[in-house]
Amino acid sequence: MLDQETAARLLRDAHAAAARAYVPYSRFPVGAALLTTDGTTSMGCNIENASYGLTVCAERVAVFNAVANGARAVVAIAVVAADIDGVTPCGACRQVLNEFVPPDGELIVVLERDGKPEQTTLAALLPHAFGPRDLASP
Ligand code: THU
Repeated sequence: MLDQETAARLLRDAHAAAARAYVPYSRFPVGAALLTTDGTTSMGCNIENASYGLTVCAERVAVFNAVANGARAVVAIAVVAADIDGVTPCGACRQVLNEFVPPDGELIVVLERDGKPEQTTLAALLPHAFGPRDLASP
């Protein structure tokens, strides 16, 4: 698990990202901040669309941002929603995160509970996952 300082810092970055959410339809801002194996931080917010189904969650924006900048493994991701305590990534985002679990490692998910970091793992949130290792050529 992360040290408390790093977890708290990721939560702060996630809140900063949530402030940039584009949520005219749900009015439900979400922010995510992730740490890659090379030590960089990437952020994401949810981005909605008038064609509702094209909305992208904060977590996926953060992952795609990191991967587009060269990252291939995520050590940890923090997620916050202004109106919900302890919000967790949706199922689609869990599957996308599973693609970038560090080799021989785990991906830590940092939630905010009563204003404090609470840590779990992607494996706990997405047991028996299907992923790159199930395919011959990941
Ligand atoms: N949303 C996220 O960004 N992440 C989640 O983990 C849950 C849902 C967004 C999608 C949509 O913009 C809004 O929250 C309401 O579902």
